[in-house]
Amino acid sequence: MKGLRRGYYNLFSRVYDGFVRLHSGDTEGLLRRFIAERVKLAPGDRTLDLCTGTGSVALEFARAVGEGGMVVGLDFSHGMLKKAQEKSRRLNSPNLHLVEADASMLPFKDSCFNAVTCSHAFYELKGPDRKRAIEEVARVTREGGRFCLMEHAEPEGRVAKLFFYLRIRLLGSRDARGFFENESDILRGRFQRITTEMAPTGKSKLICGERRGVL
Ligand SMILES: C[S@@+](CC[C@H](N)C(=O)[O-])C[C@H]1O[C@@H](n2cnc3c(N)ncnc32)[C@H](O)[C@@H]1O
Repeated sequence: MKGLRRGYYNLFSRVYDGFVRLHSGDTEGLLRRFIAERVKLAPGDRTLDLCTGTGSVALEFARAVGEGGMVVGLDFSHGMLKKAQEKSRRLNSPNLHLVEADASMLPFKDSCFNAVTCSHAFYELKGPDRKRAIEEVARVTREGGRFCLMEHAEPEGRVAKLFFYLRIRLLGSRDARGFFENESDILRGRFQRITTEMAPTGKSKLICGERRGVL
């Protein structure tokens, strides 16, 4: 099943950026700037963008952390990462590093990132993978560091809702309804000071928390 989803994203990568612009109506990069601002990055920070796709969010972070900082964009789709690499070259972002790996098995040392983000992808991780991914995020985030999760907001209207959950079901997520109603539950336990707010596009929401110290 995971192999199929990876294949789907390898194909989708060819048109992904155009599709996102049309679908979200975000032609100005409002969402990227919004998440970068809320993650509270400082020059010199080390940041991980999980399920980075074509790297749009990670590239925004690369600007924020500057030359002394580092951004890692991680994804399991080679096609998506290839597009991210092309964009990174075009925008001359030497501090963006792209890693092909699974979100539930992060190839990084403990406490090595100031912040971790995941935009519009966490819902796709299923049961044990989602649980492992959050454990891994907690492991690689420094004490006091931030984890921000950007997710689709459930659309208004019965038909829009039906199509929304149908697409998510097709991507293999069986517990989607519970997930979108209670995303902040994912952060509880490992993270504190959890906040949820709507993004300026009105179609996504951002859930952020701060890594608790080890008790
Ligand atoms: C809807 S796209 C979001 C991409 C990007 N974060 C954005 O906001 O445009 C979902 C991404 O998650 C990646 N993905 C899904 N499951 C994954 C997993 N288990 N490990 C790593 N990447 C995964 C896909 O390859 C895809 O690039």
